[in-house]
Parts: sequence; C-alpha cells; structure tokens
Amino acid sequence: MPDVPRPSSESSAASSESSCPSSAVETPGPTEWVTGVGPAVGVGPWAVERPGQSPDDPRLDPELVADGDRRNVVDDYRYWRREAIVADLDTRRHAFHVAIENWAHDANIGTVVRTANAFLAAEVHIVGRRRWNRRGAMVTDRYQHLRHHDTVDELMVWARENDLAVVAVDNTPGSVRLETTELPRRCVLLFGQEGPGVSDDAQARADLTVSIAQFGSTRSINAGVAAGIVMHSWIARHADLDQAW
Ligand SMILES: C[S@@+](CC[C@H](N)C(=O)[O-])C[C@H]1O[C@@H](n2cnc3c(N)ncnc32)[C@H](O)[C@@H]1O
Repeated sequence: MPDVPRPSSESSAASSESSCPSSAVETPGPTEWVTGVGPAVGVGPWAVERPGQSPDDPRLDPELVADGDRRNVVDDYRYWRREAIVADLDTRRHAFHVAIENWAHDANIGTVVRTANAFLAAEVHIVGRRRWNRRGAMVTDRYQHLRHHDTVDELMVWARENDLAVVAVDNTPGSVRLETTELPRRCVLLFGQEGPGVSDDAQARADLTVSIAQFGSTRSINAGVAAGIVMHSWIARHADLDQAW
C-alpha cells in the first residue's frame, strides 16, 4: 500500500461533510487517498510540480499545496480546497436527483452515490434508515449533497414541493421501458434495494416506473448497476456533453 500523505484538514472533516450527520454513516472503507490497489494517483507538492508558479489562487488548500494532492479528483481540481470544488460543482449540477430506499442497509448505496457524483446529480436522497454503507462511495459523498427522508411520503412531498417528477425504477408490472421512454428533465430517479425492490407505496405514488430491458435468466440486475444505466440515460438525453471532462 503506498504511503501517501493524508491532509489533516480533510481527514478530520471526513464524516461530517454531507447533510447526513456523522452518526448516520459507517466506516468509509477505501479512502480517497489510499485504495490499496496500484500506485498513488495525483500530484506531489506544488513546488515540485509547478516550479516558478505562485500558488495564490484562494481556492487552493495550503496543506495540499505543501504536501501534494493524492485525492481521487479530476486534474482540474488538483490542490483545490474541498469547499471550493463543491462550490464549483454547484454551479453546474444537473436537474436530476437520485433516491434510494434504505430499509435494510443495502450495500449498493455507496455505488449509487459515487455514480451520482460522476454524473453530477443535484442531490442523493436516502429514504428509510439514516445509516448507509459508505464503502462503495470511495468518499465521493464529500462532494455530493445528501438528504435523508424517514419515509417515502416525506420524499414524495419534498419532490412535489420542488416541482420534480418521481420516476421509480424497477421491472415490476406497470413499468414502461426505459429504452423507449422520455425521462423528464426535472426528476427524482427512485431505486429500490436488493430483495424487495421499489416499495409498493413508492411505485404507486411515482409519476411513472421505468424498467431496463433484460434478456437473460436472472430476474433483475444489481441495484447499483441499474442506477448507473438509468442515470446515464438521463445524461444521454439531457446533459450538455460539451461540459463533460
Ligand atoms: C435486485 S432488484 C430487486 C427487485 C426486482 N423487482 C425483483 O423482482 O427481483 C433491486 C433494484 O434494482 C433495480 N433494478 C434491478 N433490475 C432492474 C431492471 N431490469 N429494471 C429496472 N430496475 C432494476 C431496481 O431499482 C430495483 O428496485
């Protein structure tokens, strides 16, 4: 495992940066700096990487400038303070939200959060239990707005108040094909968890339910994979690809 510096300003803030309180989350698993696989990513100290250039941008983090930046962020954000990165992302976030029901600590939620970060979702909503398994998130939740709802009803009310269509995602009776359906631009994409899938209440109250076409023997695909497919469908239809990295 590479021995890479871990900036203290970020490590101390690790579990308190989302709108979920720190007690609501579990151990992060692989961190943003050390994955345990392959060489460290990122850059070394500014003085070594950019000799002769002055690190005078207020978005820069003095600790990262001094020690190097090994975080899992795109190169345009190297040496930036986390708050500056979030502020920049906030200027470009997409109109879709992602929600996932969490009645039994679904291990896929971390994957959903990471993918929502990659596709720049407006927010991720956790419905049900407050605690969720952060392992697959790879600390991407630090850059993602998270909101918790105790019940499906709370999510539905919030979505209506914010003028968002609710699109349940499951291959249940009454669903329409994702492949041939227009996803609304302003929407909440609502996923179920392994086992029960989207709850009956959620599906009954959603504006529509979309299913992903399957051809094999299995009843369903992994919820994290399904979330990636549907988010990307939204991106393909509504995103400005000139803004992608
Ligand atoms: C593993 S599935 C379980 C529920 C599934 N309805 C069943 O009967 O087995 C968990 C979640 O993944 C998503 N999912 C899995 N396969 C899907 C598909 N083919 N179409 C739409 N969503 C799917 C849905 O959000 C679903 O609630």
